[in-house]
Amino acid sequence: MPLPPRHFLGSPHPYPNVSDHEIREAARRLLSGGLIGMPTETVYGLAADATNGLAVAAIYAAKGRPSFNPLICHVEGPEMAATCARLDARALLLMDRFWPGPLSLVLPRSETCPVSELATAGLSSIGLRSPAHPVALDLIRRVGRPLAAPSANRSEELSPTMARHVIEGLGEKAPMVLDGGTCLAGIESTIVSLIGPEPVMLRPGAVERDSIEALIGPLSAPQPSLGVISPGMMRRHYAPRARLRLHATSVAPGEAFLAFGPSPAGIIATLNLSETSRLDEAAANLFSMLRELDSKFEAIAIAPIPNEGLGEGINDRIKRASAHLFEDGV
Ligand code: TXA
Ligand code: MG
Repeated sequence: MPLPPRHFLGSPHPYPNVSDHEIREAARRLLSGGLIGMPTETVYGLAADATNGLAVAAIYAAKGRPSFNPLICHVEGPEMAATCARLDARALLLMDRFWPGPLSLVLPRSETCPVSELATAGLSSIGLRSPAHPVALDLIRRVGRPLAAPSANRSEELSPTMARHVIEGLGEKAPMVLDGGTCLAGIESTIVSLIGPEPVMLRPGAVERDSIEALIGPLSAPQPSLGVISPGMMRRHYAPRARLRLHATSVAPGEAFLAFGPSPAGIIATLNLSETSRLDEAAANLFSMLRELDSKFEAIAIAPIPNEGLGEGINDRIKRASAHLFEDGV
Protein backbone atom coordinates (compact mmCIF):
# COMPACT_ATOMS: atom_id res chain seq x y z
CA MET A 1 0.00 0.00 0.00
CA PRO A 2 1.38 3.44 -0.86
CA LEU A 3 1.92 4.77 2.65
CA PRO A 4 4.18 7.76 3.03
CA PRO A 5 7.76 6.65 3.61
CA ARG A 6 8.92 7.01 7.20
CA HIS A 7 11.14 10.01 6.51
CA PHE A 8 8.00 11.76 5.29
CA LEU A 9 6.52 11.65 8.76
CA GLY A 10 8.51 14.23 10.65
CA SER A 11 7.66 17.90 11.12
CA PRO A 12 7.25 20.16 9.30
CA HIS A 13 4.46 18.17 7.72
CA PRO A 14 3.67 18.53 4.06
CA TYR A 15 0.02 19.61 4.30
CA PRO A 16 -0.30 23.23 3.34
CA ASN A 17 -3.91 23.14 4.55
CA VAL A 18 -2.80 22.62 8.14
CA SER A 19 -0.72 25.39 9.63
CA ASP A 20 1.49 25.08 12.65
CA HIS A 21 -0.83 27.49 14.41
CA GLU A 22 -3.80 25.18 13.76
CA ILE A 23 -2.01 22.15 15.17
CA ARG A 24 -1.11 24.13 18.27
CA GLU A 25 -4.72 25.25 18.64
CA ALA A 26 -5.95 21.67 18.14
CA ALA A 27 -3.53 20.42 20.82
CA ARG A 28 -4.73 23.13 23.21
CA ARG A 29 -8.35 22.15 22.63
CA LEU A 30 -7.59 18.45 23.17
CA LEU A 31 -5.80 19.22 26.43
CA SER A 32 -8.85 21.14 27.64
CA GLY A 33 -11.25 18.30 26.81
CA GLY A 34 -12.30 19.25 23.27
CA LEU A 35 -12.82 17.05 20.21
CA ILE A 36 -10.82 17.35 17.00
CA GLY A 37 -11.40 15.91 13.53
CA MET A 38 -8.01 14.30 12.90
CA PRO A 39 -6.67 13.01 9.59
CA THR A 40 -5.05 9.59 9.59
CA GLU A 41 -3.83 7.44 6.71
CA THR A 42 -6.90 5.16 7.02
CA VAL A 43 -9.94 7.37 7.68
CA TYR A 44 -10.52 10.59 9.63
CA GLY A 45 -10.83 10.09 13.37
CA LEU A 46 -12.76 12.04 15.99
CA ALA A 47 -10.03 12.52 18.57
CA ALA A 48 -10.08 13.24 22.29
CA ASP A 49 -7.49 13.07 25.06
CA ALA A 50 -7.81 9.37 25.95
CA THR A 51 -6.95 10.06 29.59
CA ASN A 52 -9.90 12.42 30.02
CA GLY A 53 -13.12 10.48 30.68
CA LEU A 54 -15.39 13.44 30.00
CA ALA A 55 -13.74 14.13 26.68
CA VAL A 56 -14.06 10.45 25.75
CA ALA A 57 -17.75 10.54 26.72
CA ALA A 58 -18.18 13.45 24.31
CA ILE A 59 -16.93 11.22 21.47
CA TYR A 60 -19.66 8.65 22.12
CA ALA A 61 -22.28 11.42 22.29
CA ALA A 62 -21.08 13.06 19.06
CA LYS A 63 -21.12 9.76 17.16
CA GLY A 64 -24.45 8.67 18.61
CA ARG A 65 -22.93 5.28 19.44
CA PRO A 66 -25.62 3.07 20.92
CA SER A 67 -23.28 1.58 23.49
CA PHE A 68 -19.80 2.18 24.76
CA ASN A 69 -17.57 0.20 22.42
CA PRO A 70 -13.88 0.41 23.17
CA LEU A 71 -12.00 3.00 21.14
CA ILE A 72 -8.61 2.71 19.50
CA CYS A 73 -6.03 4.86 21.25
CA HIS A 74 -3.52 6.54 18.96
CA VAL A 75 0.04 6.71 20.22
CA GLU A 76 3.23 8.21 18.88
CA GLY A 77 5.04 4.88 18.89
CA PRO A 78 6.06 1.84 20.96
CA GLU A 79 7.32 3.98 23.83
CA MET A 80 3.96 5.63 24.43
CA ALA A 81 2.28 2.26 23.81
CA ALA A 82 4.35 0.80 26.66
CA THR A 83 2.82 3.32 29.08
CA CYS A 84 -0.62 1.84 28.31
CA ALA A 85 -0.14 -1.87 27.66
CA ARG A 86 2.06 -4.87 28.28
CA LEU A 87 4.01 -5.51 25.10
CA ASP A 88 5.21 -9.02 24.33
CA ALA A 89 7.71 -10.08 21.65
CA ARG A 90 4.95 -10.40 19.01
CA ALA A 91 3.73 -6.88 19.72
CA LEU A 92 7.23 -5.45 19.46
CA LEU A 93 7.84 -7.25 16.19
CA LEU A 94 4.60 -6.00 14.66
CA MET A 95 5.14 -2.45 15.88
CA ASP A 96 8.63 -2.41 14.48
CA ARG A 97 7.40 -3.58 11.08
CA PHE A 98 4.07 -1.76 10.73
CA TRP A 99 4.18 1.37 12.88
CA PRO A 100 3.51 4.07 12.14
CA GLY A 101 0.82 2.43 10.03
CA PRO A 102 -2.67 0.96 9.81
CA LEU A 103 -2.30 -1.93 12.26
CA SER A 104 -4.15 -1.76 15.59
CA LEU A 105 -3.08 -4.13 18.34
CA VAL A 106 -5.33 -5.23 21.18
CA LEU A 107 -3.07 -5.82 24.17
CA PRO A 108 -3.39 -6.34 27.93
CA ARG A 109 -3.93 -2.99 29.64
CA SER A 110 -1.10 -2.23 32.02
CA GLU A 111 -1.80 -1.52 35.70
CA THR A 112 -0.60 2.04 35.35
CA CYS A 113 -2.33 2.76 32.04
CA PRO A 114 -3.45 6.42 32.14
CA VAL A 115 -6.28 5.90 29.62
CA SER A 116 -9.83 6.41 30.87
CA GLU A 117 -11.80 3.21 31.56
CA LEU A 118 -14.50 4.57 29.31
CA ALA A 119 -12.18 4.56 26.30
CA THR A 120 -11.49 0.86 26.85
CA ALA A 121 -15.14 0.18 27.82
CA GLY A 122 -14.05 -1.28 31.15
CA LEU A 123 -12.11 -4.11 29.46
CA SER A 124 -8.76 -5.34 30.71
CA SER A 125 -7.39 -4.84 27.20
CA ILE A 126 -6.62 -1.79 25.10
CA GLY A 127 -6.52 -1.17 21.32
CA LEU A 128 -3.47 0.83 20.21
CA ARG A 129 -2.06 2.11 16.97
CA SER A 130 0.39 4.69 15.69
CA PRO A 131 -1.07 6.47 12.65
CA ALA A 132 1.13 7.04 9.57
CA HIS A 133 -0.05 10.58 9.04
CA PRO A 134 2.26 13.47 9.85
CA VAL A 135 -0.55 15.71 11.11
CA ALA A 136 -1.84 13.01 13.49
CA LEU A 137 1.66 12.23 14.76
CA ASP A 138 2.43 15.88 15.25
CA LEU A 139 -0.78 16.31 17.22
CA ILE A 140 -0.12 13.29 19.46
CA ARG A 141 3.42 14.50 20.08
CA ARG A 142 2.24 17.96 21.10
CA VAL A 143 -0.50 16.66 23.36
CA GLY A 144 1.94 14.13 24.80
CA ARG A 145 -0.88 11.70 25.58
CA PRO A 146 -2.68 8.94 23.70
CA LEU A 147 -5.63 10.16 21.64
CA ALA A 148 -8.78 8.05 21.56
CA ALA A 149 -10.28 8.28 18.09
CA PRO A 150 -12.97 6.26 16.39
CA SER A 151 -13.81 7.03 12.80
CA ALA A 152 -15.29 10.55 12.60
CA ASN A 153 -18.75 9.60 11.36
CA ARG A 154 -22.14 9.25 13.01
CA SER A 155 -22.64 5.67 14.14
CA GLU A 156 -23.45 3.35 11.21
CA GLU A 157 -22.69 5.94 8.54
CA LEU A 158 -19.86 5.68 6.02
CA SER A 159 -16.39 6.43 7.34
CA PRO A 160 -14.94 9.79 6.24
CA THR A 161 -11.89 9.90 3.99
CA MET A 162 -11.88 13.68 3.47
CA ALA A 163 -12.17 16.60 5.89
CA ARG A 164 -15.41 17.73 4.26
CA HIS A 165 -17.04 14.34 4.98
CA VAL A 166 -16.42 14.97 8.69
CA ILE A 167 -17.87 18.46 8.52
CA GLU A 168 -20.91 17.26 6.55
CA GLY A 169 -21.52 14.33 8.90
CA LEU A 170 -20.79 15.75 12.34
CA GLY A 171 -21.26 19.51 11.89
CA GLU A 172 -20.88 21.40 15.17
CA LYS A 173 -20.05 18.17 16.97
CA ALA A 174 -16.60 18.39 15.40
CA PRO A 175 -15.94 22.12 15.88
CA MET A 176 -12.41 21.84 14.51
CA VAL A 177 -11.28 19.52 11.72
CA LEU A 178 -7.67 19.46 10.55
CA ASP A 179 -7.62 19.04 6.79
CA GLY A 180 -4.86 16.50 6.13
CA GLY A 181 -6.03 15.76 2.59
CA THR A 182 -7.60 12.56 1.28
CA CYS A 183 -6.78 9.45 3.32
CA LEU A 184 -4.29 7.31 1.43
CA ALA A 185 -5.43 3.89 2.66
CA GLY A 186 -9.16 4.64 2.71
CA ILE A 187 -10.31 1.72 4.89
CA GLU A 188 -9.74 1.34 8.62
CA SER A 189 -6.79 -0.35 10.26
CA THR A 190 -6.46 -4.10 10.57
CA ILE A 191 -7.09 -5.09 14.21
CA VAL A 192 -5.13 -7.98 15.73
CA SER A 193 -5.68 -9.19 19.28
CA LEU A 194 -2.62 -10.43 21.12
CA ILE A 195 -4.50 -11.15 24.33
CA GLY A 196 -4.29 -14.93 24.11
CA PRO A 197 -1.58 -17.33 22.97
CA GLU A 198 -3.01 -17.35 19.44
CA PRO A 199 -3.15 -14.02 17.60
CA VAL A 200 -6.67 -13.22 16.42
CA MET A 201 -7.70 -10.99 13.53
CA LEU A 202 -10.61 -8.97 14.91
CA ARG A 203 -11.05 -6.84 11.79
CA PRO A 204 -9.47 -7.14 8.34
CA GLY A 205 -8.21 -3.78 7.16
CA ALA A 206 -5.48 -1.78 5.52
CA VAL A 207 -2.63 -4.16 6.40
CA GLU A 208 -2.94 -7.47 4.56
CA ARG A 209 -3.33 -10.69 6.53
CA ASP A 210 -0.38 -12.35 4.76
CA SER A 211 2.15 -9.75 5.78
CA ILE A 212 1.14 -10.12 9.46
CA GLU A 213 1.09 -13.92 9.32
CA ALA A 214 4.57 -13.88 7.79
CA LEU A 215 5.82 -12.37 11.05
CA ILE A 216 3.79 -14.00 13.82
CA GLY A 217 2.11 -17.02 12.25
CA PRO A 218 -1.51 -17.79 11.46
CA LEU A 219 -4.23 -15.39 12.61
CA SER A 220 -7.37 -17.06 13.90
CA ALA A 221 -10.92 -15.79 13.53
CA PRO A 222 -12.64 -14.23 16.56
CA GLN A 223 -14.44 -16.76 18.71
CA PRO A 224 -17.12 -15.01 20.74
CA SER A 225 -17.38 -18.01 23.07
CA LEU A 226 -13.79 -17.41 24.16
CA GLY A 227 -14.53 -13.79 24.86
CA VAL A 228 -12.13 -12.59 22.16
CA ILE A 229 -14.46 -10.22 20.43
CA SER A 230 -14.40 -6.74 19.11
CA PRO A 231 -17.61 -5.29 20.46
CA GLY A 232 -17.75 -2.68 17.71
CA MET A 233 -17.83 -5.29 14.99
CA MET A 234 -21.55 -5.14 14.43
CA ARG A 235 -22.66 -6.83 11.26
CA ARG A 236 -24.41 -3.71 10.11
CA HIS A 237 -22.05 -0.81 9.77
CA TYR A 238 -21.18 1.83 7.21
CA ALA A 239 -24.77 1.75 5.99
CA PRO A 240 -25.54 3.89 2.96
CA ARG A 241 -29.17 4.78 2.26
CA ALA A 242 -29.15 3.14 -1.16
CA ARG A 243 -29.72 -0.58 -1.66
CA LEU A 244 -26.50 -2.41 -2.44
CA ARG A 245 -26.19 -5.45 -4.67
CA LEU A 246 -22.93 -7.34 -4.33
CA HIS A 247 -20.90 -9.42 -6.83
CA ALA A 248 -22.90 -7.78 -9.62
CA THR A 249 -22.10 -8.70 -13.21
CA SER A 250 -25.13 -6.93 -14.68
CA VAL A 251 -26.99 -3.69 -13.99
CA ALA A 252 -30.72 -3.23 -13.45
CA PRO A 253 -32.53 -0.10 -14.62
CA GLY A 254 -31.95 2.80 -12.23
CA GLU A 255 -28.97 1.16 -10.56
CA ALA A 256 -25.52 2.72 -10.42
CA PHE A 257 -22.66 0.38 -11.31
CA LEU A 258 -19.57 0.59 -9.13
CA ALA A 259 -16.97 -1.23 -11.17
CA PHE A 260 -13.66 -2.81 -10.25
CA GLY A 261 -11.36 -3.25 -13.22
CA PRO A 262 -12.69 -3.44 -16.76
CA SER A 263 -16.52 -3.38 -16.91
CA PRO A 264 -18.30 -6.46 -18.27
CA ALA A 265 -19.29 -6.09 -21.94
CA GLY A 266 -22.22 -3.77 -22.45
CA ILE A 267 -22.09 -2.23 -18.95
CA ILE A 268 -21.02 1.34 -18.41
CA ALA A 269 -19.44 1.96 -15.03
CA THR A 270 -20.94 4.87 -13.10
CA LEU A 271 -17.71 4.97 -11.11
CA ASN A 272 -14.73 2.63 -11.07
CA LEU A 273 -12.93 1.71 -7.84
CA SER A 274 -9.84 0.97 -9.90
CA GLU A 275 -9.75 0.73 -13.67
CA THR A 276 -6.49 -1.21 -13.46
CA SER A 277 -7.84 -3.64 -10.79
CA ARG A 278 -5.55 -2.36 -8.04
CA LEU A 279 -6.83 -3.24 -4.59
CA ASP A 280 -4.97 -0.40 -2.85
CA GLU A 281 -6.60 2.11 -5.18
CA ALA A 282 -10.00 0.48 -4.64
CA ALA A 283 -9.62 0.70 -0.86
CA ALA A 284 -8.68 4.37 -1.10
CA ASN A 285 -11.75 5.10 -3.26
CA LEU A 286 -14.29 2.86 -1.53
CA PHE A 287 -16.00 5.12 1.01
CA SER A 288 -15.94 8.32 -1.03
CA MET A 289 -17.36 6.58 -4.12
CA LEU A 290 -20.10 4.86 -2.08
CA ARG A 291 -20.89 8.23 -0.56
CA GLU A 292 -21.12 9.90 -3.96
CA LEU A 293 -23.33 7.18 -5.47
CA ASP A 294 -25.49 7.10 -2.35
CA SER A 295 -26.31 10.78 -2.82
CA LYS A 296 -27.54 10.23 -6.39
CA PHE A 297 -28.95 6.70 -6.72
CA GLU A 298 -31.49 4.48 -4.97
CA ALA A 299 -29.54 1.33 -5.74
CA ILE A 300 -25.88 0.48 -6.30
CA ALA A 301 -24.56 -2.69 -7.97
CA ILE A 302 -20.98 -3.45 -6.96
CA ALA A 303 -18.68 -5.57 -9.12
CA PRO A 304 -16.99 -8.62 -7.57
CA ILE A 305 -13.73 -7.84 -5.80
CA PRO A 306 -11.17 -10.60 -5.23
CA ASN A 307 -10.99 -11.61 -1.59
CA GLU A 308 -7.21 -11.68 -1.35
CA GLY A 309 -4.80 -9.14 0.15
CA LEU A 310 -6.55 -5.82 0.78
CA GLY A 311 -9.66 -7.32 -0.85
CA GLU A 312 -10.45 -9.01 2.49
CA GLY A 313 -10.89 -5.63 4.19
CA ILE A 314 -12.73 -4.11 1.22
CA ASN A 315 -15.21 -7.00 1.03
CA ASP A 316 -15.71 -6.85 4.80
CA ARG A 317 -16.75 -3.18 4.56
CA ILE A 318 -19.05 -3.82 1.58
CA LYS A 319 -20.71 -6.74 3.37
CA ARG A 320 -21.35 -4.63 6.44
CA ALA A 321 -22.66 -1.76 4.34
CA SER A 322 -25.22 -4.13 2.84
CA ALA A 323 -26.08 -6.08 5.98
CA HIS A 324 -29.54 -4.51 6.15
CA LEU A 325 -30.40 -6.51 3.02
CA PHE A 326 -30.08 -9.71 4.97
CA GLU A 327 -31.35 -8.80 8.40
CA ASP A 328 -32.61 -5.92 10.46
CA GLY A 329 -29.76 -3.75 11.66
CA VAL A 330 -27.90 -5.29 14.57
O1 TXA B 1 -8.22 3.03 11.09
C1 TXA B 1 -8.77 3.03 12.18
O2 TXA B 1 -8.65 2.09 13.00
C2 TXA B 1 -9.65 4.23 12.54
C3 TXA B 1 -8.74 5.47 12.58
C4 TXA B 1 -9.47 6.70 13.03
O3 TXA B 1 -7.62 5.21 13.37
N1 TXA B 1 -10.33 4.04 13.77
C5 TXA B 1 -11.38 3.19 13.91
O4 TXA B 1 -11.93 3.19 15.16
O5 TXA B 1 -11.82 2.50 13.01
P1 TXA B 1 -13.38 2.60 15.48
O6 TXA B 1 -13.68 3.02 16.88
O7 TXA B 1 -14.37 2.97 14.45
O8 TXA B 1 -13.14 1.05 15.50
C6 TXA B 1 -12.42 0.53 16.57
C7 TXA B 1 -12.64 -0.97 16.66
C8 TXA B 1 -14.01 -1.32 17.18
O9 TXA B 1 -14.54 -2.38 16.43
C9 TXA B 1 -13.70 -1.75 18.62
O10 TXA B 1 -14.65 -2.64 19.12
C10 TXA B 1 -12.32 -2.34 18.48
O11 TXA B 1 -11.68 -1.48 17.58
N2 TXA B 1 -11.55 -2.28 19.72
C11 TXA B 1 -10.96 -1.23 20.30
N3 TXA B 1 -10.42 -1.58 21.48
C12 TXA B 1 -10.65 -2.88 21.65
C13 TXA B 1 -10.38 -3.84 22.68
N4 TXA B 1 -9.74 -3.49 23.77
N5 TXA B 1 -10.80 -5.10 22.50
C14 TXA B 1 -11.46 -5.47 21.38
N6 TXA B 1 -11.77 -4.61 20.40
C15 TXA B 1 -11.39 -3.35 20.52
MG1 MG C 1 -16.00 3.20 12.62
